[in-house]
Amino acid sequence: MKKTLILLMFLHIMQITCAKAFSQDEFLKQNPVLEKLLYYGTLAPSSHNAQMWKVRILSDNEFLIILDKERNLNYVDPDSRESLISIGAFLANIIRGSEILGLNLQYNIYNETAPDNSVVYVSFSGIETESFSDSVQKFENLLLKRKTSKEKFSKKKIPVQEINKIIAGYEDSVIYFPKDSSSYQYIRENTMKAYETQGQNQDKRNELSEWFRFSDKETEAKKDGFSAEMLGMGSLKKFFYYNFYNREKVRNIKFLNEELKLIKTQTDTADGFLLVIAKDNSVKENIRAGIILENIWLNAADADIKIQPLSQILEEEPYKNNISNDLNINGEVKMILRTGYSANNKIVKKVRRNIKDILDNTEILNTKEEKQ
Ligand SMILES: Cc1cc2nc3c(=O)[nH]c(=O)nc-3n(C[C@H](O)[C@H](O)[C@H](O)COP(=O)(O)O)c2cc1C
Repeated sequence: MKKTLILLMFLHIMQITCAKAFSQDEFLKQNPVLEKLLYYGTLAPSSHNAQMWKVRILSDNEFLIILDKERNLNYVDPDSRESLISIGAFLANIIRGSEILGLNLQYNIYNETAPDNSVVYVSFSGIETESFSDSVQKFENLLLKRKTSKEKFSKKKIPVQEINKIIAGYEDSVIYFPKDSSSYQYIRENTMKAYETQGQNQDKRNELSEWFRFSDKETEAKKDGFSAEMLGMGSLKKFFYYNFYNREKVRNIKFLNEELKLIKTQTDTADGFLLVIAKDNSVKENIRAGIILENIWLNAADADIKIQPLSQILEEEPYKNNISNDLNINGEVKMILRTGYSANNKIVKKVRRNIKDILDNTEILNTKEEKQ
């Protein structure tokens, strides 16, 4: 009896000491479903395409989403509101993806950022089934189709039923202001003013300039920020842009008038503005706003309705302090989305970091072996 006990203890110690530690990346390679979910997350929108997300894998079916403060836009987004909204969009793709894959996913959004900057805990169970493959393909195509549309929109009106379809389930948190409303005019005028205020701030110009990419090589190396294609350029414009434009020029305030002309065209041709509303500025509410943002954006993409967020009102004083009151909105405005149709249905190549680049460097024990 005693001998058996000693032998069992010995085996247990051996099991613990021999459990192999994996890097997050090595571990992920053995877990394709987890890898797929994270890939969906990375296709989410983020302000300046800064991708302020990191992931720490805890086991084959659990991970943390972490706010990457090094990627925060400290001048336009000092309290990380937009970073958290971007993380919410990242989470939305994972939630929607898990439903398509037939997984049972649970998540807990923290009330506050944890000391290690984690903000969401995610766990899931179930395995991918082959029979879902058609809808998986459709979903993956939709993630790649959703994009920020910077071009002029057409005069075609969005039918009310289409707007209702896009915001279905989120009626309490989303408002639509069509072109003939006074709130539409308010947003149009104040976006111009807020843009001008922001454009005169050298620190904010410098910060923005860091996210512009001036060659395919730079885009490929950094895998974030704005490529020429994302700015809406065709091959001729791209040629001139890559050859005659540079970071110094983006920083130069003398280009502000040109920029104001562009934003005027963008706001003048919007068919309406969709606003995402939340209760307050907590981590939870910002992440929830991001979930709503991405869901209505994907619905819009599916209906060929174009979206461009216009954030200047929400970034600049006094505009950000006044908007809820001025528009009689109960709550905080989290996103303002220019909405309309255009003939530009080009799929723009997604510029995103690889999954291994967003993984944290904590090692994990091979929990699969331990569970056996
Ligand atoms: C919180 C947030 C704020 C944004 N603000 C703006 C904005 O003011 N103007 C704009 O053109 N795009 C804005 N965007 C869109 C991002 O620039 C865009 O998502 C990112 O460059 C990735 O491109 P994609 O959406 O085409 O995938 C915003 C996105 C998010 C999530």
